[in-house]
Amino acid sequence: MKIIIDRFDGTKKYESTYELTNEEIKGKTLLTVLFDIKQKKDATLNFTASCRSAICGACAVRVNGHSYLACDTKMNELLAEYGNPDTIRISPLGNFKVISDLMVDWEPSIENLRKIKPSITAKPEFSAEKGCKQSQKEYDKVALEWDCILCGACASECNKLEADASDYMQPFVFVHAYRAAFDSRSKDPMPHLKPAIDNGLWMCVKCQECADRCPKGISACADITDLRIMAIQKGFNEGMGPDHAEAFLTDLVDGSGRLNEVRLALRSEGVIKNMGKLDIAANLMLAGKMNPLHVFGEEDIEGHDDLVKMINAARKAASKE
Ligand code: SF4
Ligand code: SF4
Ligand code: FES
Repeated sequence: MKIIIDRFDGTKKYESTYELTNEEIKGKTLLTVLFDIKQKKDATLNFTASCRSAICGACAVRVNGHSYLACDTKMNELLAEYGNPDTIRISPLGNFKVISDLMVDWEPSIENLRKIKPSITAKPEFSAEKGCKQSQKEYDKVALEWDCILCGACASECNKLEADASDYMQPFVFVHAYRAAFDSRSKDPMPHLKPAIDNGLWMCVKCQECADRCPKGISACADITDLRIMAIQKGFNEGMGPDHAEAFLTDLVDGSGRLNEVRLALRSEGVIKNMGKLDIAANLMLAGKMNPLHVFGEEDIEGHDDLVKMINAARKAASKE
């Protein structure tokens, strides 16, 4: 089979194609194949790897546009996923600046991790003598996030980063903000929560791609939701993001049970901001996706009473947690 690798030499992009026999692929991981190419076919190929045990996070790359942890990806399973093709394409992670071939620049991500202060300050009741204990439930709240190995697979797939990275941090940064903010041993969640709010917490588009690709089963998307709930509970309930969330709930409970697109836009962004989006609104109306008469309300959906009962039951259960 052929493996095409996207290359970059610091000034220009190009691609290299390597022919591999079945024997050269059989029983190997994607990382072993990359090492074989470098050691036996092309010493100029650059990539990063260290532990070979899915611990250090250094070896994530994209195959056919999707991110994988190379040392944790068996070639036979990878090829089966794509219907055993004759050719696959390996590229550096998306949404990172490429330094050389499959090596990407982590400096901006490290800067973002610094912003959310990933280490915690213990509550005053803890001490070296007494220890710094937490219950099983408290540990479970953050255990999964401790498994993040900073591989970048989630960031590579993030649709918000792809659309505009200027006001958004990598999904794993929010994972670490969550881990620190929700740790029961922490004196104060605010040093972690506030920078998350200030750096795009409400900009996530909830596409779930981060959760789909994480080799450790972490959902940055779910952690972002929990951080948003914490933000509202701490009084950060003003602005487009919280207004948007509130508008959803209003439509479901006080409204018809169906999202009211006309009112949603007005409540989230206000009349003035929406004046600049009249062309988008006109296109949505022409496509039959928005009815301007819905500004006056809509008929309740069938089973609206039951929906309200379910939401109220969920709220009651959440308040007891
Ligand atoms: S859910 Fe949010 S953080 Fe995750 S990939 Fe989508 S936009 Fe990015
Ligand atoms: S959250 Fe998952 S995909 Fe993202 S960096 Fe951490 S381990 Fe990798
Ligand atoms: S080499 Fe360390 S995670 Fe793959």
